[in-house]
Amino acid sequence: MPDAHYDDPVLAALYDVQCGWSEDRDFYLALAGTPPQDVLDLGCGTGLLCNAYAAEGHRVTGLDPSPGMLDVARRSPRGAEIEWILGTAETARPGKTFDLIIMTGHAFQVLLEDADIAGTLAFIREHLKPGGRAVFESRNPAIDWVKDWDGHTETIDLHGVPVGYSVHVLDRTADRMTFEQRYAFPDRTLPSLSTLRFASRAEIEALIAAAGLVADPLQGDWQGGLFDPEISEEMIFTVRIS
Ligand SMILES: C[S@@+](CC[C@H](N)C(=O)[O-])C[C@H]1O[C@@H](n2cnc3c(N)ncnc32)[C@H](O)[C@@H]1O
Repeated sequence: MPDAHYDDPVLAALYDVQCGWSEDRDFYLALAGTPPQDVLDLGCGTGLLCNAYAAEGHRVTGLDPSPGMLDVARRSPRGAEIEWILGTAETARPGKTFDLIIMTGHAFQVLLEDADIAGTLAFIREHLKPGGRAVFESRNPAIDWVKDWDGHTETIDLHGVPVGYSVHVLDRTADRMTFEQRYAFPDRTLPSLSTLRFASRAEIEALIAAAGLVADPLQGDWQGGLFDPEISEEMIFTVRIS
Protein backbone atom coordinates (compact mmCIF):
# COMPACT_ATOMS: atom_id res chain seq x y z
CA MET A 1 0.00 0.00 0.00
CA PRO A 2 1.38 3.44 -0.84
CA ASP A 3 1.94 5.73 2.12
CA ALA A 4 -1.15 7.98 2.25
CA HIS A 5 1.21 10.94 2.60
CA TYR A 6 2.13 10.66 -1.09
CA ASP A 7 -1.47 10.30 -2.23
CA ASP A 8 -2.47 13.74 -1.01
CA PRO A 9 -2.21 16.07 -4.05
CA VAL A 10 -1.35 19.08 -1.86
CA LEU A 11 1.48 17.23 -0.13
CA ALA A 12 2.67 15.76 -3.46
CA ALA A 13 2.90 19.30 -4.87
CA LEU A 14 4.86 20.38 -1.78
CA TYR A 15 7.32 17.48 -2.11
CA ASP A 16 9.79 19.07 -4.56
CA VAL A 17 9.89 22.31 -2.56
CA GLN A 18 10.69 20.43 0.63
CA CYS A 19 12.89 17.70 -0.91
CA GLY A 20 14.76 19.39 -3.75
CA TRP A 21 18.01 18.34 -5.41
CA SER A 22 20.51 16.87 -2.92
CA GLU A 23 23.84 15.01 -2.76
CA ASP A 24 22.15 11.60 -2.85
CA ARG A 25 20.66 12.56 -6.20
CA ASP A 26 24.14 13.51 -7.51
CA PHE A 27 25.29 10.05 -6.39
CA TYR A 28 22.46 8.25 -8.20
CA LEU A 29 22.74 10.36 -11.35
CA ALA A 30 26.45 9.53 -11.65
CA LEU A 31 25.69 5.77 -11.60
CA ALA A 32 24.29 5.63 -15.12
CA GLY A 33 26.87 4.88 -17.80
CA THR A 34 27.21 6.44 -21.21
CA PRO A 35 23.75 7.28 -22.56
CA PRO A 36 21.43 5.90 -23.67
CA GLN A 37 21.00 3.40 -20.82
CA ASP A 38 17.68 1.91 -19.75
CA VAL A 39 17.01 3.28 -16.26
CA LEU A 40 14.13 2.40 -13.92
CA ASP A 41 13.33 4.55 -10.88
CA LEU A 42 11.29 2.45 -8.41
CA GLY A 43 9.23 4.74 -6.18
CA CYS A 44 10.12 7.67 -8.45
CA GLY A 45 7.85 10.12 -6.63
CA THR A 46 7.65 13.41 -8.50
CA GLY A 47 10.33 12.28 -10.96
CA LEU A 48 13.15 14.68 -10.11
CA LEU A 49 15.83 12.05 -10.83
CA CYS A 50 13.92 10.67 -13.83
CA ASN A 51 14.09 14.15 -15.37
CA ALA A 52 17.83 14.40 -14.69
CA TYR A 53 18.53 11.00 -16.33
CA ALA A 54 16.33 11.93 -19.31
CA ALA A 55 18.21 15.22 -19.68
CA GLU A 56 21.42 13.18 -20.03
CA GLY A 57 19.92 11.13 -22.86
CA HIS A 58 18.89 7.96 -21.00
CA ARG A 59 15.67 6.01 -21.66
CA VAL A 60 13.81 6.40 -18.38
CA THR A 61 10.90 4.64 -16.71
CA GLY A 62 9.44 5.94 -13.44
CA LEU A 63 7.26 3.64 -11.33
CA ASP A 64 5.27 4.75 -8.27
CA PRO A 65 2.06 3.61 -6.56
CA SER A 66 0.88 7.14 -5.71
CA PRO A 67 -1.28 8.86 -8.35
CA GLY A 68 -0.63 12.24 -6.68
CA MET A 69 3.16 11.93 -7.09
CA LEU A 70 2.85 10.64 -10.66
CA ASP A 71 0.55 13.55 -11.59
CA VAL A 72 3.32 15.95 -10.59
CA ALA A 73 5.89 13.76 -12.41
CA ARG A 74 3.89 13.71 -15.65
CA ARG A 75 3.78 17.53 -15.66
CA SER A 76 7.55 17.84 -14.99
CA PRO A 77 9.82 19.40 -17.67
CA ARG A 78 10.76 16.10 -19.36
CA GLY A 79 7.60 14.30 -18.28
CA ALA A 80 6.52 13.60 -21.86
CA GLU A 81 9.81 11.75 -22.66
CA ILE A 82 9.58 9.42 -19.66
CA GLU A 83 7.44 6.32 -19.31
CA TRP A 84 5.40 6.50 -16.11
CA ILE A 85 3.91 3.38 -14.52
CA LEU A 86 1.41 3.44 -11.66
CA GLY A 87 2.15 0.52 -9.34
CA THR A 88 4.62 -1.16 -7.05
CA ALA A 89 7.40 -3.57 -7.93
CA GLU A 90 5.07 -6.35 -6.80
CA THR A 91 2.28 -5.40 -9.21
CA ALA A 92 3.90 -3.71 -12.22
CA ARG A 93 5.16 -5.46 -15.35
CA PRO A 94 7.18 -2.94 -17.42
CA GLY A 95 7.75 -5.49 -20.21
CA LYS A 96 11.46 -4.66 -20.56
CA THR A 97 14.73 -5.00 -18.65
CA PHE A 98 17.08 -2.29 -17.38
CA ASP A 99 20.78 -1.45 -17.09
CA LEU A 100 20.16 0.44 -13.85
CA ILE A 101 17.33 0.20 -11.32
CA ILE A 102 17.31 2.66 -8.43
CA MET A 103 15.09 3.12 -5.37
CA THR A 104 15.91 6.46 -3.73
CA GLY A 105 14.76 8.91 -1.06
CA HIS A 106 14.57 5.97 1.40
CA ALA A 107 11.56 4.64 -0.52
CA PHE A 108 12.92 1.17 0.36
CA GLN A 109 11.88 1.81 3.98
CA VAL A 110 8.17 1.91 3.08
CA LEU A 111 8.53 -1.85 2.48
CA LEU A 112 7.42 -2.92 5.96
CA GLU A 113 7.30 -6.70 5.73
CA ASP A 114 9.96 -9.19 4.62
CA ALA A 115 7.50 -10.29 1.92
CA ASP A 116 7.36 -6.71 0.53
CA ILE A 117 11.16 -6.54 0.38
CA ALA A 118 11.39 -10.04 -1.11
CA GLY A 119 8.78 -9.12 -3.76
CA THR A 120 10.69 -5.97 -4.70
CA LEU A 121 14.02 -7.83 -4.90
CA ALA A 122 12.42 -10.57 -7.04
CA PHE A 123 11.17 -7.86 -9.40
CA ILE A 124 14.68 -6.38 -9.53
CA ARG A 125 16.18 -9.83 -10.27
CA GLU A 126 13.67 -10.29 -13.09
CA HIS A 127 14.12 -6.83 -14.62
CA LEU A 128 17.92 -6.38 -14.59
CA LYS A 129 19.79 -6.86 -17.86
CA PRO A 130 22.86 -9.13 -17.68
CA GLY A 131 25.60 -6.91 -16.24
CA GLY A 132 23.04 -4.45 -14.87
CA ARG A 133 22.82 -3.30 -11.26
CA ALA A 134 20.25 -2.03 -8.80
CA VAL A 135 21.05 0.51 -6.09
CA PHE A 136 18.94 1.53 -3.10
CA GLU A 137 19.47 2.81 0.42
CA SER A 138 18.02 2.30 3.88
CA ARG A 139 18.86 4.26 7.03
CA ASN A 140 21.24 2.62 9.51
CA PRO A 141 19.04 1.49 12.44
CA ALA A 142 21.93 2.02 14.89
CA ILE A 143 21.60 5.80 14.55
CA ASP A 144 19.25 7.55 17.01
CA TRP A 145 16.70 8.73 14.44
CA VAL A 146 14.10 9.56 17.10
CA LYS A 147 16.47 12.13 18.60
CA ASP A 148 17.00 13.61 15.12
CA TRP A 149 13.36 13.68 14.06
CA ASP A 150 11.09 14.04 17.09
CA GLY A 151 10.05 17.64 17.62
CA HIS A 152 11.78 18.88 14.45
CA THR A 153 10.13 22.05 13.10
CA GLU A 154 10.82 24.28 10.13
CA THR A 155 9.02 26.72 7.87
CA ILE A 156 8.78 25.75 4.21
CA ASP A 157 8.53 28.56 1.67
CA LEU A 158 5.88 27.34 -0.79
CA HIS A 159 6.30 29.93 -3.55
CA GLY A 160 5.95 32.77 -1.03
CA VAL A 161 3.42 31.02 1.24
CA PRO A 162 4.90 29.98 4.61
CA VAL A 163 4.02 26.40 5.59
CA GLY A 164 4.86 25.31 9.13
CA TYR A 165 6.25 21.77 9.23
CA SER A 166 6.70 19.58 12.30
CA VAL A 167 7.47 15.95 13.05
CA HIS A 168 6.29 13.93 16.06
CA VAL A 169 7.46 10.37 16.63
CA LEU A 170 4.54 8.29 17.93
CA ASP A 171 6.11 4.86 18.20
CA ARG A 172 9.53 3.27 17.80
CA THR A 173 10.00 -0.47 18.00
CA ALA A 174 13.09 -2.51 17.21
CA ASP A 175 12.74 -2.02 13.47
CA ARG A 176 9.88 0.43 12.85
CA MET A 177 9.08 4.05 13.45
CA THR A 178 5.62 5.58 13.23
CA PHE A 179 5.54 9.35 13.07
CA GLU A 180 3.19 12.18 12.27
CA GLN A 181 4.18 15.04 10.00
CA ARG A 182 2.07 18.23 10.23
CA TYR A 183 1.87 20.83 7.50
CA ALA A 184 0.34 24.10 8.75
CA PHE A 185 -0.90 26.12 5.77
CA PRO A 186 -2.31 29.63 6.43
CA ASP A 187 -5.89 28.28 6.16
CA ARG A 188 -5.61 24.68 7.40
CA THR A 189 -3.34 22.02 8.85
CA LEU A 190 -2.73 18.72 7.10
CA PRO A 191 -1.51 15.86 9.32
CA SER A 192 0.13 12.81 7.74
CA LEU A 193 0.89 9.51 9.47
CA SER A 194 3.75 7.29 8.22
CA THR A 195 5.49 4.10 9.28
CA LEU A 196 8.98 3.21 8.05
CA ARG A 197 10.98 0.04 8.59
CA PHE A 198 14.56 0.27 9.80
CA ALA A 199 15.75 -3.18 8.77
CA SER A 200 19.25 -4.26 9.75
CA ARG A 201 22.07 -4.82 7.28
CA ALA A 202 21.92 -8.56 8.03
CA GLU A 203 18.17 -8.74 7.37
CA ILE A 204 18.49 -6.94 4.04
CA GLU A 205 21.55 -8.92 2.96
CA ALA A 206 19.76 -12.21 3.72
CA LEU A 207 16.81 -11.13 1.56
CA ILE A 208 19.20 -10.05 -1.24
CA ALA A 209 20.85 -13.48 -1.24
CA ALA A 210 17.48 -15.27 -1.10
CA ALA A 211 16.42 -13.33 -4.22
CA GLY A 212 19.39 -14.67 -6.20
CA LEU A 213 21.28 -11.38 -6.12
CA VAL A 214 24.80 -10.53 -4.93
CA ALA A 215 25.76 -7.30 -3.19
CA ASP A 216 28.85 -5.14 -3.74
CA PRO A 217 30.66 -3.87 -0.60
CA LEU A 218 28.15 -1.81 1.39
CA GLN A 219 28.57 1.95 1.13
CA GLY A 220 27.76 4.30 4.00
CA ASP A 221 27.71 7.77 2.49
CA TRP A 222 27.10 9.63 -0.76
CA GLN A 223 30.83 10.15 -1.34
CA GLY A 224 31.38 6.40 -1.82
CA GLY A 225 32.77 5.68 1.70
CA LEU A 226 32.39 2.15 3.02
CA PHE A 227 29.69 1.49 5.64
CA ASP A 228 30.72 1.92 9.28
CA PRO A 229 28.04 0.32 11.50
CA GLU A 230 28.68 2.81 14.34
CA ILE A 231 28.53 6.11 12.49
CA SER A 232 27.25 5.74 8.92
CA GLU A 233 23.75 7.15 8.51
CA GLU A 234 23.12 5.34 5.24
CA MET A 235 23.33 1.73 4.10
CA ILE A 236 23.69 1.97 0.32
CA PHE A 237 23.21 -1.40 -1.38
CA THR A 238 24.39 -2.19 -4.93
CA VAL A 239 23.10 -5.54 -6.14
CA ARG A 240 23.62 -7.60 -9.30
CA ILE A 241 22.40 -10.91 -10.66
CA SER A 242 24.48 -13.69 -9.09
C1 LIG B 1 10.17 9.56 0.13
S1 LIG B 1 9.40 9.32 -1.42
C2 LIG B 1 10.83 9.19 -2.47
C3 LIG B 1 10.53 9.67 -3.87
C4 LIG B 1 11.75 9.72 -4.80
N1 LIG B 1 12.35 8.41 -4.97
C5 LIG B 1 12.78 10.70 -4.29
O1 LIG B 1 13.92 10.31 -4.05
O2 LIG B 1 12.44 11.87 -4.17
C6 LIG B 1 8.85 7.65 -1.31
C7 LIG B 1 8.08 7.19 -2.57
O3 LIG B 1 7.88 5.78 -2.49
C8 LIG B 1 6.63 5.50 -3.06
N2 LIG B 1 6.19 4.18 -2.61
C9 LIG B 1 5.35 3.86 -1.61
N3 LIG B 1 5.19 2.52 -1.55
C10 LIG B 1 5.96 1.99 -2.52
C11 LIG B 1 6.22 0.66 -2.99
N4 LIG B 1 5.66 -0.40 -2.41
N5 LIG B 1 7.04 0.49 -4.04
C12 LIG B 1 7.62 1.55 -4.63
N6 LIG B 1 7.43 2.84 -4.23
C13 LIG B 1 6.60 3.04 -3.21
C14 LIG B 1 5.76 6.65 -2.58
O4 LIG B 1 4.58 6.76 -3.35
C15 LIG B 1 6.70 7.82 -2.72
O5 LIG B 1 6.59 8.44 -3.98
